[in-house]
Amino acid sequence: MANPNIRGDRQALQRTMDAILEASRASKRETTQPAQTSLFAPSANALPNGISELVFDVPTNKRLSDLVLSEHLKDSVEEFIYEFSHASLLREHSVEPRHTLLLIGPPGNGKTSLAEVIAAELSLPLLSVRYDAIVDSFLGETANRFRRLIDYVATNPSVLFFDEFDAVGKDRGDSQETGEIKRVVSSLLVQLDRLPSHSVVICATNHPELLDKAVWRRFEVRVEVPLPGPSELKEWFHRFERSLGASAGIDAQEFADCMAGESMSEIEAFTLDVRRKLILSRGKLTPARAVQEILGRWQRRLRKNLQNGDYVAELSSGPTAERAAERKANKRTASKRNLRSEKNAAGAE
Ligand SMILES: Nc1ncnc2c1ncn2[C@@H]1O[C@H](COP(=O)(O)OP(=O)(O)OP(=O)(O)O)[C@@H](O)[C@H]1O
Ligand SMILES: [Mg+2]
Repeated sequence: MANPNIRGDRQALQRTMDAILEASRASKRETTQPAQTSLFAPSANALPNGISELVFDVPTNKRLSDLVLSEHLKDSVEEFIYEFSHASLLREHSVEPRHTLLLIGPPGNGKTSLAEVIAAELSLPLLSVRYDAIVDSFLGETANRFRRLIDYVATNPSVLFFDEFDAVGKDRGDSQETGEIKRVVSSLLVQLDRLPSHSVVICATNHPELLDKAVWRRFEVRVEVPLPGPSELKEWFHRFERSLGASAGIDAQEFADCMAGESMSEIEAFTLDVRRKLILSRGKLTPARAVQEILGRWQRRLRKNLQNGDYVAELSSGPTAERAAERKANKRTASKRNLRSEKNAAGAE
C-alpha cells in the first residue's frame, strides 16, 4: 500500500514545482510583452543556441475574438485554454490538464491562427518546429535534435507547434514512404511521450488520413477547423461592413451565398481587395461600388483546379453579385408563384 506521507510529500513537491513554473511564466510574460511592441527590438526572451535553429519563435498578436469561428470550435478552444490555465487546480486533485491538441481541416481556415491565439491567451511563446532543421540524413542526429528540443520545452513552458504535421507524421504503413521517415516519426513519438503537461503541443494538418494511428492516439484533443458555414460568413460580413462604416450594397445573406465554399483566407483576401480599391479610388468610389467591382473581378479570377492541377477561370461557378441578384430574383418569382397557387387552391375550395 502506498505510504500516505510519501504521497503527501509528492503533492507538496508538485505544488512547489507548479508555483516555480507559474512564477517563471509570469516573469516571462513581463519580459516578452515589451518585445512584442516593436518588430525590430531584439527578443528579451531569446532562445538559446542549439534550440533557436530548430524552431521559429512566432510572434503571437492574434486573440480569440479576432477570429470568426463556429460556436462548437470556439467552445472547444476556450475549454482547452481554460483547462490549461487552471492546471494547478487540477493538479491539486492529482489530475493533469490535457495539453496535446490536433487541428484538422482544409487550408486557410485558421489552424495556424488558432495556434497563435492559444499561445497568446496562455502567455506562452509559440515555437514552430522547423522540419528542415530537425530532420537529418542520420537518424541518430534527428533523434538527438528532437530530444534537445523536448528537453528545452519540458523546462521552459511553451507551445510547441508542428504545422503541416502530415509532412513528418505520415502513415508509417505507407509503402511510398522510406523507412527513414518512419523511423523519424517513431523517434518523435518517443520524445513527445516524455513531455510533461507544463507545455502544450499543437499539430496542424490538412491530411488527417495520412496520419499514423499512433500519432493520432497521442492527441488528447482533436478539433476540426472546417470551411466557414453560413453563420460564420454572415458574422464576417457584419464585421466587414462595420469596418467600412457604410453599407456594402449587399446584405449578409447575399454575401454568405456568394462566398459559400470559400476558405477564410480567400474571404480575407476579398475584403482586403475591397479596401485596396477604396483607398486607391481616393474617395471616388462608395464602399458599395467597390464591393460590386471586386465581386465582378472575383468571378473572373483564376483558381487552381485541385483535381487535375490545371488553372481554370471560374466563370460559371464563381460567386458574383449578379449570381446573388439572380438567385434573389428567382426566389421572389418562386414565392409569387407559390402565393398564386395557394390563392388558386383556396379559390377552388
Ligand atoms: N476563422 C478565421 N477568422 C478570421 N480570419 C481567419 C480565419 N481563418 C483564417 N483566417 C485568416 O486567413 C489566413 C490564413 O489562416 P491560417 O494560416 O490560420 O490558416 P491554416 O488553416 O493554417 O491554413 P494552411 O492549412 O494553409 O496552413 C490568415 O491571414 C487568417 O487571418
Ligand atoms: Mg497553417
